[in-house]
Amino acid sequence: MAKKASLVVLISGDGSNLQAIIDAVNRKQLDAEITAVISNQVSAKGLDRACKENITTHVIDHKAYTSRENFDQAMIQVIDEASPDLVILAGFMRILSQAFIKHYQHRLINIHPSLLPKYKGLNTHQQAIDNQDKIHGASVHYVGAELDSGPVVIQVEIPVFSSDTAQTLASRVLVEEHKIYPLAIEMHLNNRIQFKNNQIQLDKQPLNKPLLWKEEKLITDK
Ligand code: GRF
Repeated sequence: MAKKASLVVLISGDGSNLQAIIDAVNRKQLDAEITAVISNQVSAKGLDRACKENITTHVIDHKAYTSRENFDQAMIQVIDEASPDLVILAGFMRILSQAFIKHYQHRLINIHPSLLPKYKGLNTHQQAIDNQDKIHGASVHYVGAELDSGPVVIQVEIPVFSSDTAQTLASRVLVEEHKIYPLAIEMHLNNRIQFKNNQIQLDKQPLNKPLLWKEEKLITDK
């Protein structure tokens, strides 16, 4: 039997996206094994989620390193032991060095709670409310050189209600994140995503716009 694809997941907190990926592996949506979960926070709840599934966990505390580069090198060492086909950032709250990003080019993916390129960085839900956006959402993207940049594969859109707070909005977005992240990972594992001259392709065609997940369906042409 062919060896299963190896997924390494990096977390810092609750790990609800990690859970969605675990669930997708368990229901065989993803033909893969989560070979390691790495957290920079010893108290991350996601570590318990991984332990429950007998997934190998590592805590690499960024505070124990004198520079971002040294911390990232320590992570690279641990990650590479798992020979990952894909390195998945799932609420990993550290900015990554260029060396790390380059090392995993085209196999490093992130989920961000906004409709990128809108609202890079933190407090995305509050920004959507403050700007009276009618639509908000989340994006799955390959990691580029700049913070929260890189080609977006799938976005999900949800309506913003006038009664929304940052918390209510965040929790509705999160429910949708749990659907689109496994879908994007599945596309990567099935080799549907490729990079040609640094241009992202889906099914061998340039992916000029992100796919859109709306009303429980994947829409390929907006
Ligand atoms: C999510 O909102 C994700 O988009 C962002 O961090 C949050 C992580 O949540 N990058 P969880 O730890 O997966 O529950």
